[in-house]
Amino acid sequence: MHQPDPAAPPPGCPAHRLYGAEAEADPMGLYEKLRAEHGSVAPVLVHGDLPAWLVLGHRENLDVARTPSRFSRDPRHWRDQQEGNVPLDHPLTPMTAWQPVCHFVDGVEHERLRGAITESLERFDRRGVRRYVKRFADQLIDAFAQSGKADLVADFAEPLPMLVMTQLVGAPESYGPRLVEAARDMIRGTETALASNEYVLVTLRELVAAKREQPGRDFTTWLLEHHTALGDEEIVEHLRLVLIAAFETTANLIANTVRMVLTDRRFRANLSGGHMTLPDALEQVLWDEPPLMTVLGRWATGDTELAGTPIKAGDMLLLGLGAANLDPEIRPDATLPVHGNRSHLAFSSGPHECPGADIGRAIADTGIDTLLTRLPDLELAVHEDELLWKSSLMSRHLVALPVRFTPRGATVTGSTPVPGAERSAGRPPRTAPAATPVAGERPAGRGSWWSRLLGRR
Ligand code: HEM
Repeated sequence: MHQPDPAAPPPGCPAHRLYGAEAEADPMGLYEKLRAEHGSVAPVLVHGDLPAWLVLGHRENLDVARTPSRFSRDPRHWRDQQEGNVPLDHPLTPMTAWQPVCHFVDGVEHERLRGAITESLERFDRRGVRRYVKRFADQLIDAFAQSGKADLVADFAEPLPMLVMTQLVGAPESYGPRLVEAARDMIRGTETALASNEYVLVTLRELVAAKREQPGRDFTTWLLEHHTALGDEEIVEHLRLVLIAAFETTANLIANTVRMVLTDRRFRANLSGGHMTLPDALEQVLWDEPPLMTVLGRWATGDTELAGTPIKAGDMLLLGLGAANLDPEIRPDATLPVHGNRSHLAFSSGPHECPGADIGRAIADTGIDTLLTRLPDLELAVHEDELLWKSSLMSRHLVALPVRFTPRGATVTGSTPVPGAERSAGRPPRTAPAATPVAGERPAGRGSWWSRLLGRR
């Protein structure tokens, strides 16, 4: 593939590269530059210098996300792919190679698959979810509380969502840690990612078989019981989708919110003074640093226009969620607090809007609340300017969040294992999954969750 100069678009091309060193160093800065040059819809180049449109305006993002008849979620509309311009090893292939899962289909088929997911997620008792989050948060904090220091990305923000999600899908305790490790490894892009993916699939198949035999009070059972009668493989694929969709997004939200609480005077003063609640702080982060900055993608079903820009049938569009949240049309002064206003696009909008928003918020909110209550003198161990970020086409996340605090003992609650089995798992599967779980080495940074999401077994 053509190796681009990361600093500039190709000569004569009005589009900016949305990848490479310049774009990844300051994605928000690039979005503002594009907004100044092009308005609400900008021509951009993705990997391999393939053309796309980045939607920057809040109204225009809503328009695209809410009209699947004009802007489909189905990548089979992509003209460049149809014309053979996308090599098989293209880095975006995992996000653009169609599969029969709910986020690649529209219309009736989408309603069928998505209905099963949303209605099964809605069966969770909110207080029950929060209890799980608190228990797992306590366990994670116990592991570093006595040392007086931690990296809150690796030690807290990353493992917490996955621990909670494996509990919610009803994975037996005996599977928990191995499944978490394999699921995390699977989306990191390590050399062991494929083997870990295989382990996750084998485990989820075992889980579905076990729940058929002995139902529990968990997401897997509720998918099996749902009147749409999804097939077992459909359930496995959607369990995998949900696990991965929940992971990096919620991890980013936790890390970004803790960072903001520790560094932004507004939150520090307000939280201790009781004016701003933690849910307010989360909403502010969802506006200013959404866990997914862009979403790939949508594809034009016919020739159309968007904010006066002609869009051709088969063109690819990216929802610019981060840019939309800072659109001066809706936020003329981005320094003003949003006071819990939820009209941001961090969870997108329209038929594909994130169905896990409440669960993501509950994990982040209860997890951070537990952390701040247990370690009230938590502070950054490095200067804010020394924090390192890693960006990709779709997300920007902290590489590490080193903190220090007065060393403390473990809690009684925290050291008690979470009793998941009796509530959710029923009898554990008779045999352990055949594939070997792969812990994987810790890589320098995480790969994009979405890009791994569709990495095939
Ligand atoms: C703070 C955490 C989260 C954020 C910011 C987030 C954000 C998003 C976004 C932006 C999309 C893409 C929507 C589109 O294509 O227009 C999405 C899709 C999705 N998310 Fe989330 N998500 C989060 C947590 C979760 C959790 C916890 C779950 C599961 C319990 C989940 C399940 C899904 C699923 C299944 C989809 C595909 C929906 C469809 O295409 O119909 N997400 N999410």
